[in-house]
Amino acid sequence: MSESIIKIEHLCKTFGTGDGQVKALQDVDLDIQKGEIFGIIGLSGAGKSTLVRCMNLLERPTSGTVTVDGQELTALKPKELRAARRKMSMIFQGFNLLMQRTSLENICFPLELNGLRGEKTWRKKRAMELLEIVGLPDKADAYPVQLSGGQKQRIAIARALADEPQVLLCDEATSALDPTTTQSILDLLKKINREMGVTVVVITHEMRVVEQICDRVAVLEGGVVQEQGPVSEIFSNPRTEAGRRLVMPNGEKIHVLPANRLVRIVFNGAVASEPIISEIGIKLGIRLNICAADTRTIGDKAFGSMVLALPEDETDAARALIYLREIPGVTAEEVTDLVQ
Ligand SMILES: Nc1ncnc2c1ncn2[C@@H]1O[C@H](COP(=O)(O)OP(=O)(O)O)[C@@H](O)[C@H]1O
Ligand SMILES: [Mg+2]
Repeated sequence: MSESIIKIEHLCKTFGTGDGQVKALQDVDLDIQKGEIFGIIGLSGAGKSTLVRCMNLLERPTSGTVTVDGQELTALKPKELRAARRKMSMIFQGFNLLMQRTSLENICFPLELNGLRGEKTWRKKRAMELLEIVGLPDKADAYPVQLSGGQKQRIAIARALADEPQVLLCDEATSALDPTTTQSILDLLKKINREMGVTVVVITHEMRVVEQICDRVAVLEGGVVQEQGPVSEIFSNPRTEAGRRLVMPNGEKIHVLPANRLVRIVFNGAVASEPIISEIGIKLGIRLNICAADTRTIGDKAFGSMVLALPEDETDAARALIYLREIPGVTAEEVTDLVQ
């Protein structure tokens, strides 16, 4: 069975006091398993960075516990905490490289800080191995200003891996990158997860990042975990309003006559090659208007959702609903909350 690597229980974090008080995290429970890629998704201000900073106790929780690899960090003495923290390292949106140091020197830096980890020649050898892993062996002597954003993040990843962490915490690590570079960094994170067995925690406001590499995801809003579960479940069938707001088509874009009833259909593994909407037109003679859609095909299965306007005619609307509900891998539910 799987084994917990980061367990968070009843975590609360409050900043400030009195009127200026901000409850950044409220009663957060998470259990991240060894070897998985776990996503935390939420809009700006949701509390994501605070949560990730609580995982390594850069931020001290107001209450609750953080247990890493069986050790309760919140109960450790400073020296023990320093040792426990070495199990985790972090990368950021802004890369945080030392500008006066070359790539190689940046990667060596955490090993220097930790005097136990060998001689200078050993450190250099280790840094060169890491440059190979991140695909930049020719950039050893380049300074950060000479690197592109994607290359800087690769160096930051190499540096984060230098001391052989068990967990890599990524706070919006691809948010400053273009889509192609984002993809290549996600591929690299996946490779590190698979080949080195490093558990990866991905904090992001970008759905597609979670969708592409995460096994499980937690939806954070207002400092509260609204729901969590396997990515395929949360993305195809979010149970909470917060989840729907993040992963479903955007209600603001929907303009329909008030007479039209709306139905949201969720694809949860329907056969992607079947043209469901046009079949309804042909078989039932009913035309459905697609108001919003956010679907994707994974393998030969369809996931995601659509919002359809039902015909004004009551009987046709009912027939269309019945038809939709009978399609395997599709659920259909009337919605009223999307029309402004
Ligand atoms: N050091 C701090 N002092 C006061 N408020 C803070 C501090 N850090 C974060 N906050 C507040 O906590 C909330 C969550 O912030 P943050 O964790 O940075 O969210 P996210 O990373 O999801 O954008 C915000 O309202 C933010 O203003
Ligand atoms: Mg943040």
